[in-house]
Amino acid sequence: MRKAFVTGYPIKHSRSPLIHGHWLKKYGLEGSYGAVEVAPEDFNDFVSTLQQNGYVGGNVTIPHKEMAFALCQKRDPAAEEIGAVNTLWFENGQLRGGNTDAYGFLANLDASSPKWDTHKTALVLGAGGASRAIIYALKQRGLTDIRIVNRTPARAKELADRFGSGISAHEWAALPELLDDASLIVNTTSLGMEGKESLAIDLSNVKSDSLVTDIVYVPLETPLLKAAREAGLKTVDGLGMLLHQAVPGFEYWFGMRPEVTSELRDLILADMNGGPKK
Ligand code: ATR
Repeated sequence: MRKAFVTGYPIKHSRSPLIHGHWLKKYGLEGSYGAVEVAPEDFNDFVSTLQQNGYVGGNVTIPHKEMAFALCQKRDPAAEEIGAVNTLWFENGQLRGGNTDAYGFLANLDASSPKWDTHKTALVLGAGGASRAIIYALKQRGLTDIRIVNRTPARAKELADRFGSGISAHEWAALPELLDDASLIVNTTSLGMEGKESLAIDLSNVKSDSLVTDIVYVPLETPLLKAAREAGLKTVDGLGMLLHQAVPGFEYWFGMRPEVTSELRDLILADMNGGPKK
C-alpha cells in the first residue's frame, strides 16, 4: 500500500489528510495519507528514513519548507524560484522536491474567475514566504506589472530584486494610489486570519472590474473579501488554493490526477464549521 504524509510542527490543524483521504476513497485507491508531527531538530532524520519507513512521499509545511528544500536531491523550477519545498516524492530512488503553492493559486483563480489574467497589473500585499509563491505565479502567468507592498519595506524590496523585471516594491503609505491602479489585489499577509487583526484598507476607489483574492481561508470570507464584495468587486476566496495545491502531490504518490470538486470543498467547509471529520 502506498503511504504518504503531511508533516509540520505543529500539524494537528492540517486539513490535508481530509483532502487526500477523500480522493483515496473516491477513486478506490489503496493508500494512506496521515499527519506526522516532527520537531525541527528531528526533521533531517525523518526525511532520511522516509523510504525505510515505507513512504512514497508527502507534504511539508511550516516550519520545514526551507529545510526540505535543502534536503532534496533535485527540485522543480517552482521550488527553485520560491526557495521552499512543500511536496516530496521519489524518482529513481532520489528524493525530489516541488512547490505546488503557485500552481494552486493559479488553478484556483482559473477555476473561479476565468480570464482573470487578461489584467496585467497586480498589487500583492505582504512579502513573506506565501508572497514569494504568489509573485512567482503571477510572473509565470505573464503579468507584467506586479507591485509589492509590505509593512517592512526591506522585505518587499528583497522580493522585487529577487524576481527582477516587472516587479516593484512600495511603502505601505503608498497603498491608496496603488489600490486605485490595481486590477488584481492579493492579500498574502496573515491579516484577516481568525484571531488576528483585520486588514483595514479602503477599497472605495478600486476600479469596478478589479478582482480581490485572499490566501487566508479561515474565515472563508475575510474582512478584506467582505469589503470587496460590498464594494461590488469580484472576489475569490483562499480555500480553492489549498485544494488545488494538493493535486500534483496526489498524482505523484498515487498515480492519478484527482479533481477538485464542490463535494470536496463542502467537506472541508463542514470541517471548518466544526462538522464531523470523515
Ligand atoms: P508567510 O510565510 O505565511 O507569508 P511570514 O513570512 O511571517 O508568513 O509573512 C507574513 C506577512 O504578513 C508579512 O508580509 C508581514 O509583514 P512584515 O514583513 O512587515 O512582518 C505581514 N504581516 C503580519 N502581521 C502584520 C501586521 N500587523 N501589519 C501588516 N503586515 C503584517
